[in-house]
Amino acid sequence: TLTQAEKAAVVAIWTKVATQADAIGAESLERLFLSYPQTKTYFPHFDLSQGSAQLRGHGSKVMSAIGEAVKSIDDIRKALVKLSELHAYILRVDPVNFKLLSHCILCSVAAHYPSDFTPEVHAAWDKFLSSISSVLTEKYR
Ligand code: HEM
Repeated sequence: TLTQAEKAAVVAIWTKVATQADAIGAESLERLFLSYPQTKTYFPHFDLSQGSAQLRGHGSKVMSAIGEAVKSIDDIRKALVKLSELHAYILRVDPVNFKLLSHCILCSVAAHYPSDFTPEVHAAWDKFLSSISSVLTEKYR
């Protein structure tokens, strides 16, 4: 669980990220598909070329889910229960992929806000994204 200081760091960087959420979401997916092309197998029905409407649309959905988790930072599980069921029972995404996407989101945030991305903010975001991943993969067990 996140400490009060970590929660504050997540909320602070999110207020900036939220203003460019769609761009950061699309960039995170581009990084995911370029660096880890095996992740593309979950999206056979998508046009995954850089800047495609589907890629941007999906990036936007992912970032709004993260925004919901920020809003419910004291109860991330409750905020994401539906998504957890979707990823486990319907999409059957292998949990390793959540680490890869989290890494790509982290890189995109760092690239957009280099001076805000202090070691403390880095650590807090990393922990927050792994809490989200835990919730989204817990139904597998
Ligand atoms: C769908 C969020 C990780 C694959 C979705 C949707 C959201 C979402 C909000 C749309 C749900 C809807 O339309 O009702 C997230 C978040 C993640 C995450 C917050 C982690 C931070 C992943 C990973 C993969 C993945 C790691 C696979 C590499 C998919 C697929 C869909 C989907 C295939 C369905 C796309 C479609 O057909 O529209 N996700 N996701 N997700 N997600 Fe994730």
